[in-house]
Amino acid sequence: MITTSKKICIVGTGYVGMASAIGFAALGHRVTGYDIIPERIRALQCGVAPYREAGIDEALAQHLRTGNIRFYDDLPSAVAGVDFIIVCVGTPSGDDGSADLSHVESAVAALVACRPKNAVMVLRSTVPAGTTELLAARNRVDFVYAPEFLREGSAVPDFLDPDRIVVGANSHETGQRYANLLASLERPVLITSYRNAELIKGFSNAFLALKISFANEVANMCDVLEADAHAVLGGVGHDKRIGGAFLRPGIGFGGPCFEKDVKSLHFVAGQHGVGRELLSATLRINKEQPKRIVDILEAELGGLQGRRIAIWGLAFKAGTDDVRDSLALRIIEDLKGRNAAMIAYDPAVRDLPPDSGCSIAVSAQAALEGADALLLLTEWPEFREIPPWSIAGRLTKGVVVDGRNVLDPDAMAAAGLRYRGVGRKPSAGISLAAVS
Ligand code: UDX
Repeated sequence: MITTSKKICIVGTGYVGMASAIGFAALGHRVTGYDIIPERIRALQCGVAPYREAGIDEALAQHLRTGNIRFYDDLPSAVAGVDFIIVCVGTPSGDDGSADLSHVESAVAALVACRPKNAVMVLRSTVPAGTTELLAARNRVDFVYAPEFLREGSAVPDFLDPDRIVVGANSHETGQRYANLLASLERPVLITSYRNAELIKGFSNAFLALKISFANEVANMCDVLEADAHAVLGGVGHDKRIGGAFLRPGIGFGGPCFEKDVKSLHFVAGQHGVGRELLSATLRINKEQPKRIVDILEAELGGLQGRRIAIWGLAFKAGTDDVRDSLALRIIEDLKGRNAAMIAYDPAVRDLPPDSGCSIAVSAQAALEGADALLLLTEWPEFREIPPWSIAGRLTKGVVVDGRNVLDPDAMAAAGLRYRGVGRKPSAGISLAAVS
């Protein structure tokens, strides 16, 4: 199905904004991009993306070359003559768990002053239910609320391969105008109310986060029952009513979305006095899981005071350089509090705050030199390719705690290492706690 080419302005060049800019350009639309940070716009005009994302640099270069995407650091130029204005600015968590809407509100206020009157205003930021209505009423502007479901590390492929296109609108006609931008994707289009669309986004993330916390509880039980979490969760996930996705146990869910979105729903539920036990449990399990990983390491070493820990992985997940709300950083803070020394390697993250108590190694192997134990915190596939004997040859205490179940327990045992995964049977190696 051919999509009629439209002029679209993307406001905010974060993960959703950049994926939207590249995605809409890929669909044949003419895109302008605006950001409040001039340095970011200048970098984008030179083809430099604000963060690591597979394929983004090549796509950006291509669309800059063809002129399908242009970046502006002044809003009036960015919105001149456009058919759609799509707001993709951040909505971080406030201290009380509520969503901070200040960036959205200031972006909308600036846009109302300079937008073409016939341009459709679209909000893509994740916002609490009721927000779009308030913005529409306060600014006397009709909106479309169109949430994004992309994952970091696969942002553009996810934009171009959505399971559904959710559109919150005051009228079917306005909703359809936005949906027509994506007609060539030929995906189910759900045109509904603002609140329904806002809640579809929020509860989609909350359910995915719940699945992860469920997987972690299953794994923690497998640990004490000496069962194998991969086998158990693999068997559970084979039920097509459940599905195996998002059932990987580990250190918990990190990143800028899940915890923020669950906390926001939790806050709204509390405001309205409705049940929020599942939301509370999801957050509580996720808060405890990183500490549980450090406790396992402490038990295996017979204490962390003065120990040197090699850490593999700093990003909140593999495939990205994003450390926002990375649980690896929370674990590093916990280890620092327990007086351990640390040296970390991550393929995409090359520096840490100076007060982190953790230095940076140039390679995964270099991080192991002189370390007592290895702690794996991000599921980068390359870590699995490192020969176990090269790990065993460098670790002074031979302890490996695999927070993401990336490594092969049998290969670890064969190399004489004491291996602990999350819900995986410990390898035959001797726990130092047993001998010290
Ligand atoms: C998430 C949602 O998946 C996406 O639909 C939404 O638009 C934004 O938030 P993202 O945060 O980029 O995407 O990453 P995701 O792949 O969902 O992982 C989130 C966290 O959960 C990461 O720390 C990841 O390591 C962890 N995770 C994921 C698990 O621990 N187990 C799993 O099975 C899956």
